[in-house]
Amino acid sequence: MKYIQLTMLMVAIVFGSCSTKSKFETNVTSPNEKIKVAFSLSEKGIPTYNITFKDGDIIKTSTMGFDLKEAPSLSENFEIINATSSNFEEVWQMPWGEQLDVESKYNELKIELQETSELKRKLNIVFRVFDDGLGFRYEFPEQENLKDVIITDENTQFNLTADHMVWWAPGDWDIYEHLYNESLFSEIDALSKANHPNLAQTYIPENAVNTPVTMRMENGVHLSFHEAALIDYSDMTLKVDTVTFGMTSELVGSERTGYKVKRTVPFTTPWRTLQIAEKATELIDSKLILNLNEPNKLGDVSWFKPTKYTGIWWEMHLGKSTWDRAGSQDMTSFTTAAKAHGKHGATTENAKAYIDFSAKNNIGAVLVEGWNTGWEHWIGFEDREGVFDFVTPYPDYDLKEVVRYGKEKGVEIIMHHETSAATETYTKQQDTAFALMKSLGIHSVKTGYVGKILPKGEYHHGQYMVNHYNNTVEKAAKYQVAINAHEPIKDTGLRRTYPNTISREGLRGQEFNAWASDGGNPANHLPTIAFTRMLSGPIDYTPGIFDIKFDKYKKDNQVNTTLAQQLALYVVIYSPIQMAADILESYEGNKAFQFISDVAVDWQKTVVLNGEVGDFVTIARKEKNSENWFVGGITDENEREITVDFSFLNDKQSYEAIIYEDAPNSHWNNNPTAYNIRSVEVNKSTKLKMKLAPGGGFAISVKQKK
Ligand code: NOJ
Ligand code: CA
Repeated sequence: MKYIQLTMLMVAIVFGSCSTKSKFETNVTSPNEKIKVAFSLSEKGIPTYNITFKDGDIIKTSTMGFDLKEAPSLSENFEIINATSSNFEEVWQMPWGEQLDVESKYNELKIELQETSELKRKLNIVFRVFDDGLGFRYEFPEQENLKDVIITDENTQFNLTADHMVWWAPGDWDIYEHLYNESLFSEIDALSKANHPNLAQTYIPENAVNTPVTMRMENGVHLSFHEAALIDYSDMTLKVDTVTFGMTSELVGSERTGYKVKRTVPFTTPWRTLQIAEKATELIDSKLILNLNEPNKLGDVSWFKPTKYTGIWWEMHLGKSTWDRAGSQDMTSFTTAAKAHGKHGATTENAKAYIDFSAKNNIGAVLVEGWNTGWEHWIGFEDREGVFDFVTPYPDYDLKEVVRYGKEKGVEIIMHHETSAATETYTKQQDTAFALMKSLGIHSVKTGYVGKILPKGEYHHGQYMVNHYNNTVEKAAKYQVAINAHEPIKDTGLRRTYPNTISREGLRGQEFNAWASDGGNPANHLPTIAFTRMLSGPIDYTPGIFDIKFDKYKKDNQVNTTLAQQLALYVVIYSPIQMAADILESYEGNKAFQFISDVAVDWQKTVVLNGEVGDFVTIARKEKNSENWFVGGITDENEREITVDFSFLNDKQSYEAIIYEDAPNSHWNNNPTAYNIRSVEVNKSTKLKMKLAPGGGFAISVKQKK
């Protein structure tokens, strides 16, 4: 199946005098020739590019360059010394993912630039153009007059053609847990989102947006800007100019160092990416971000198996129990100690109850939070270094016994490392912590970074933390440990290179519904996430809340979807680990749990059936190594009728579809838990009309009839 074809051809270059520099132009198109990127140097020798799609402008002439510390900017007086183009084609396989086979096919153009001024510094720009979009990156090659590069600003422009509709989240240097906003580009106002009361840390210095940022042009073409392979560099936000419709890269900085990035040549930057789609659903189909990452460096990773999991988790967010033993932990505020009811969640007995439930219901793992000492010292502490050691359980939690009991029942324990953003402590403890996991046969850990980063002056998304997150993944791999990071760095497709990067948060997860003072995640949240955050990679959203209103625990908070939508999320939101997040008492006796028991977590194939950004989406996925399909559809606050076209099924086969759907009078607020289950026979030519309640959804499991 795997074939690689690589051809190189030299682009003929005409070397001219200074006055002909502006005529230098070098183009590259996508394999299907719909996307065209043109590179050229301006009269002043400034690198510029523009992009068209089906001959229509997508990006108008935009400049590229860098400001450096203690050195002149690297941005003008360039000449092209060489340009090479090549093409590449392969099919590679994901160890786990939305699909097994991934096609990668692109044309590449590499431009080698050199300054004509005294320093004669060199900079290469490489474009890779696929049918679903493109990426470009800068290469700083080995050279005489540039060794250590201290970047104070990367100035990559993305000049848009008009006032597009945009789904954006503020360019926060410290957290991605903001709602996406829908507005015209000219109305983006990221600064108005500053100081959200429920964020443990946040810093929005500019009118900039986070990526992925998704847009719709007037002609219906969809664009999404992001980055790929973020390694030893800092996260890129995009500063917006609401008057000219321009965006410029704004790298996350550091108050500790005063610069954005420090590297030594030779090095390459992350890819700056643009996904281009004729309709919204194609954005989800796109594998551009993964294709711009290097192949698997870890080899066999079969020690990790995609799994569903339950956990001692939601009960703490509800306030039913606590992380620490003294009972003083309150995640609602992240700052105050409150509610000393002393109900420690992570007890041996409670963990065994979750194991028993999981074993009975085809759930492979149990997450246990609050198992290790330190929680009672965390909140309110400025100096959080040394608080957690990641190996010492509370006395009422017998880690070894819980692991042993789990093994007996075929259920693996998921480790939890809340670092409280004390990165030096965590780095020092990692070998010991991962070695303990290895000795117990625990293969995955949920990490957390709540709070301002220590050392002070660093932000969650700066180069220091990018390296911390990436080093953690690499170190964990040595112990056969997979990472699910919360308060993470954004996903840039590195799971291709390091497949033990299994999932992450990096969005407003389900937890906000338990305690956010702004009413939680609105019904349009996930239909937006599917076309924005999810384009970057797997999401540990933690779906499956059945007790939607949980009035017994919190009267002022609730989930803003129907129960049927909670089921749909197992299909719509991709992750190789999917939590059945509710407390056990909410599941007992509820027939809808059958869907969670049945649904797969690893896929052969994904088909996005329909959808519009922020409104609705329907996705069908085929289980790996089986003939089963699962379909999920979700809508925003509007009820709607959606037709599910089963033409993705095999020819001449008949299937049983078990449908979990909103009841006729369901409503995310007025009647969220009403649902119906029915069974129908379907085949390739079936078209089923589904009714989705406001904030509703449906989930279907489709099995071949014997
Ligand atoms: C924030 C995480 O997102 C949440 O899942 C976790 O329970 C808390 N931190 C405590 O680690
Ligand atoms: Ca979080």
